Amino acid sequence: MLSTVFQLVLLAASNAAASPTFLGPPKAPACHELTLRIPVTATNLRFNLPTVDSNLDAVRWGIEDSRRTNVNRTTGEIPINQTFSIAAQLCVPSHGSKKSQIQILTHGQFANRKYWDVQLQPEEYSYVENALAAGYSVLNYDRLSVGASEHPDAYTVAQTAVEVEILRSLNTMAHNGHLLSLVPDLAGSTKFDKVINVGHSYGSIVTSGLLAQYGDLVDAAILTGFLPPAEAAALPAGAVLIANGRFAPEVDPVRWGTYASGYIANADIYALQTIFFSRRNDSDPAGFDNDLLEYAWNEVAAPITSGEWLSKSEIKQFPAPAFTGPILFLEGEHDLGACLADCNGAFNATRATEVYPNAKMIDYYVQPGAGHGLTLHRNASAGYKAGFDWLSSQGF
Ligand SMILES: *[C@@H]1O[C@H](CO)[C@@H](O)[C@H](O)[C@H]1NC(C)=O
Ligand SMILES: *[C@@H]1O[C@H](CO)[C@@H](O)[C@H](O)[C@H]1NC(C)=O
Ligand SMILES: *[C@@H]1O[C@H](CO)[C@@H](O)[C@H](O)[C@H]1NC(C)=O
Ligand SMILES: *[C@@H]1O[C@H](CO)[C@@H](O)[C@H](O)[C@H]1NC(C)=O
Ligand SMILES: *[C@@H]1O[C@H](CO)[C@@H](O)[C@H](O)[C@H]1NC(C)=O
Repeated sequence: MLSTVFQLVLLAASNAAASPTFLGPPKAPACHELTLRIPVTATNLRFNLPTVDSNLDAVRWGIEDSRRTNVNRTTGEIPINQTFSIAAQLCVPSHGSKKSQIQILTHGQFANRKYWDVQLQPEEYSYVENALAAGYSVLNYDRLSVGASEHPDAYTVAQTAVEVEILRSLNTMAHNGHLLSLVPDLAGSTKFDKVINVGHSYGSIVTSGLLAQYGDLVDAAILTGFLPPAEAAALPAGAVLIANGRFAPEVDPVRWGTYASGYIANADIYALQTIFFSRRNDSDPAGFDNDLLEYAWNEVAAPITSGEWLSKSEIKQFPAPAFTGPILFLEGEHDLGACLADCNGAFNATRATEVYPNAKMIDYYVQPGAGHGLTLHRNASAGYKAGFDWLSSQGF
């Protein structure tokens, strides 16, 4: 059963104009593929790290990024004023009282938006399908420089400050009706009156930037694969790249051969396993199936940019005084990057209250057995349900 799919051109975030053209069939009748044109004004930073044009460069770059001394690598500012092309999928259930609540999903690094929409046993693993089944509308997008979204300069343009502005624009479009107006089938059928943001890992950093800078746009937040700073010891960021980062075109010439200087991919499937997966033994009921690791490497894995890696700790992420909704931190029990493989007891509620001083509620939930990539582990749907139950308990 095919329904219409439109490529939509958004001329300005606050002044949408749609011009539909056919792209191809959607994955489900409730879902619509969008190509959004999002104007952004932001201030990026210039960094004095070497360029990455080979695997040798990528390792050298990781060591420089980890250097104990000369940690200020910022040499100046770069004003950005340009319009970006962002690929997204908007799904709206046909009925139900929660379709007026939209979850905006922001995926992490080394992944594309399929992280949220795993197509192996989607009823178990796809966050998107589970959210739809729970009645919510969903916007799932490829971040700038990832998947079908635009791949701009990896050093100067693809940075976190720009991504926060893109997410701000998506939130604004959800609130003011422009998002729905882009899909003729949906226009007028409903209205989003609650906007929930869900992040994973780096996507939670971008979302926390949104909460700190534009917190009044967000009604509720679920941050996964991420804890507020100064909590559990986290894996030194550079160590991840030294061990796992390679020049994307050398890692996979078929998938990423056309990616330019500064695009960095996981070295191989085991590098991806290191960052995303946990299975303490083969009978662990909450570990992962090898199929999922293979799927993740073949379908979900994506390069990152030098610029987003270096800028992620430079944006304003805390505190978030304008955010007054509830927030849930939902972590995989054995998340390596966020908690050094044990998230039990890793949450500092005092610290969280300092950085979200006006949040209506701050909660913490540990999904048993899962690693960093919560959507790729057995029992994933039960973890999603924990998040949806929490939303319900908060009136969503
Ligand atoms: C880092 O260096 C730049 C330029 O050299 C300077 O403008 C900036 O204030 C420094 N940042 C910090 C945190 O010291
Ligand atoms: C950004 O670009 C637009 C269109 O080119 C221009 O009208 C606007 O003044 C620019 N804004 C800034 C802050 O430079
Ligand atoms: C496998 O791991 C699970 C979860 O940590 C644990 O409950 C179980 O006892 C382990 N089984 C063996 C044989 O070690
Ligand atoms: C928790 O956070 C508070 C406030 O930032 C800090 O004073 C305290 O040392 C932290 N506790 C631990 C165990 O890190
Ligand atoms: C599956 O996840 C649910 C929700 O977090 C949890 O209650 C349950 O114990 C988990 N099952 C296993 C086998 O870990």
